[in-house]
Amino acid sequence: MKMIYSEILKKGENFLKKNKIKNPHLDTELILSKVINKKREEILLNTNNNLKKKDLIKFKKYLSRRYEKEPMAYILGYKYFWKHKFLINKSVLIPRPDTEKVVEETLKNLPIEKSKKILEIGTGSGCIIVSVLKERPKCKATAIDISKNAINIAKTNAKLHQLENKINFINIDIDKFKSYNYDLIISNPPYINSIELKRLDDDIKFHEPTLALSGGLDGFKYLKKIIVKSNKLLKINGKLILEIGHRQKNQCSKILNENGYYINQISKDLSGKDRCVVSTKL
Ligand SMILES: C[S@@+](CC[C@H](N)C(=O)[O-])C[C@H]1O[C@@H](n2cnc3c(N)ncnc32)[C@H](O)[C@@H]1O
Repeated sequence: MKMIYSEILKKGENFLKKNKIKNPHLDTELILSKVINKKREEILLNTNNNLKKKDLIKFKKYLSRRYEKEPMAYILGYKYFWKHKFLINKSVLIPRPDTEKVVEETLKNLPIEKSKKILEIGTGSGCIIVSVLKERPKCKATAIDISKNAINIAKTNAKLHQLENKINFINIDIDKFKSYNYDLIISNPPYINSIELKRLDDDIKFHEPTLALSGGLDGFKYLKKIIVKSNKLLKINGKLILEIGHRQKNQCSKILNENGYYINQISKDLSGKDRCVVSTKL
């Protein structure tokens, strides 16, 4: 059976509405544009075009995934972050606009002419370290993650952005990592506590990796681990830059102070929530 784009878009939108998908119109257009490999604008200019049978099958498959609340970024296979496009799949957290604050603060602490040694803990898609190194060509980095699949995606992204020789990716648990003398450590660790984890939207809760979200009972399991461990990995006066949950500022500051760090700055994300802590190992 043949169908024209305008009919398909209407049917798709109505289907997604049945499961209360937030942007049914836009999502249907994006899915159709992925299937026919054309820009959205081209669809809108050619609404009387027919969709081939094999493409209709693909369209229905992607639409069903969205109906089940799978995030669009996983269906499309990419997400824009900072100034670049990152390939992603279900092994990695979808890069968030809030995390761009971490990139911004990191760049402020890395003079462009200096060659610094950087470590990222829990790199996921590699979006932070790739964005930073793109703008600091004299720096070199190591990026680690406990997930082998995440490391593979991060390597692909580094290659996509011509940084494969600048970033050394290692599939390792932070507990087992032993390499010292870093000038700067960055991390957006899993920091959601067990109560908030249950309250997350279905899109996140059922589709993004728990390994990338869950910070244990109180949300501080990894934040604490990273603060303690970074004290050994950093040079004196080295910087630790962390993303935190919006209610973690006080507790995080306490842990940093107890472990010998000076807090330089705590900055807010675009929605005015505390998000990024810059500290110095004394
Ligand atoms: C919140 S995600 C951050 C991903 C990416 N940096 C970003 O900002 O989009 C946290 C990452 O930490 C990794 N991770 C969790 N436990 C870890 C551990 N013990 N050692 C190393 N990495 C870990 C997860 O696999 C996940 O990729």
